[in-house]
Amino acid sequence: MQAKAVTLCQRPVGMPKKEDFEVIDIDVPAPADGEIQIQNVCMSVDPYMRGRMIERKSYVPPFQIGEVLTGGAIGKVTKSGHPDYKEGDYVSHSWGWREAVTTSVEGVQRLGEIVAPPSAYIGTIGMPGMTAYVGLLEVGALQDGETVFVSGAAGAVGTIVGQIAKLKGCRVIGSAGSAEKVALLQDELGFDHAFNYNDGHILNHLREAAPDGLDVYFDNVGAEHLQAALMCMRPFGRIPLCGAIATYNDTEPRPGPNNLSMAIGLGLTLRGFIVTHFNHLADQFRNDMEGWVTSGQITSKETVFEGIDQAADAFIGLFTGANVGKAIVNL
Ligand SMILES: NC(=O)c1ccc[n+]([C@@H]2O[C@H](COP(=O)([O-])OP(=O)(O)OC[C@H]3O[C@@H](n4cnc5c(N)ncnc54)[C@H](OP(=O)(O)O)[C@@H]3O)[C@@H](O)[C@H]2O)c1
Repeated sequence: MQAKAVTLCQRPVGMPKKEDFEVIDIDVPAPADGEIQIQNVCMSVDPYMRGRMIERKSYVPPFQIGEVLTGGAIGKVTKSGHPDYKEGDYVSHSWGWREAVTTSVEGVQRLGEIVAPPSAYIGTIGMPGMTAYVGLLEVGALQDGETVFVSGAAGAVGTIVGQIAKLKGCRVIGSAGSAEKVALLQDELGFDHAFNYNDGHILNHLREAAPDGLDVYFDNVGAEHLQAALMCMRPFGRIPLCGAIATYNDTEPRPGPNNLSMAIGLGLTLRGFIVTHFNHLADQFRNDMEGWVTSGQITSKETVFEGIDQAADAFIGLFTGANVGKAIVNL
């Protein structure tokens, strides 16, 4: 059969553009013995993919020009040449950016019984949700009742960081790029305080929102956000370094925070992490998160783009703030 897929036709310089991507037709053969054919239901676009569009050594290898892109996706098995996978099974895998694929089962996880729409398994109950969970509870070593600040608060990871922190009885502050997102955080997701980082100085907002300082700063953004948060940390505070989206489209290296020495006297812990460092907690995470979602304690927010032709727009939207919660492409 034939399917549509997206390739990178040139490396983006600065902000990615629609012309950097091309939609092509691909062949999806019948599965051989040991293989399965999957019809994708939805795919994920994620900020880390921007780094893979640059030719450089990183924790994941760069995408090659002309190759179909890869990334998280949820699909349904349509034909199976493998005894453990049957037609109709929902699977989670890394063959996104295409409508269908025939593959060996390596790296393909059966979802089994699901308690939420399939898209939740690339969002709140998937990689971004697990990033929030391990970043806050393991890396950030969150204690009940602490004061937490999360940047990128209205995004896939940030919405879950804030809600888990609330479940732990913490006071939660979030930053986002528009008044509408600030209203969502405060009115719908239970944040104690939120501010628009485009409106005034981040440091002033933080000093007003947390006059007694921050125990944990969950950093999704880097740059000015990190610099401002460093000024507001309490002694022995923790800063999980999750992402630095403010820098991903930089064409020149930018100076780091000029106040890192704050970490010395205050005994701060700044610790970078990648969610896969905590794969051993995947079952525990799924169990906890499915429980919180089905009991209504955690709300999943999604921004849905329809069809593979919108995949590039969905990806570019991550850098313009087009998404609220998880950006999903329905296929
Ligand atoms: N360490 C890991 O394993 C891991 C795993 C997943 C994600 N991450 C990182 O976590 C962060 C959030 O990822 P996500 O999947 O949840 O994405 P997301 O927040 O759903 O989408 C990106 C959001 O970032 C904000 N943003 C874009 N450019 C910005 C800028 N220059 N300054 C401030 N905010 C900006 C936008 O919201 P506004 O409208 O609020 O600006 C946008 O909606 C990213 O840095 C990502 O790389 C790390």
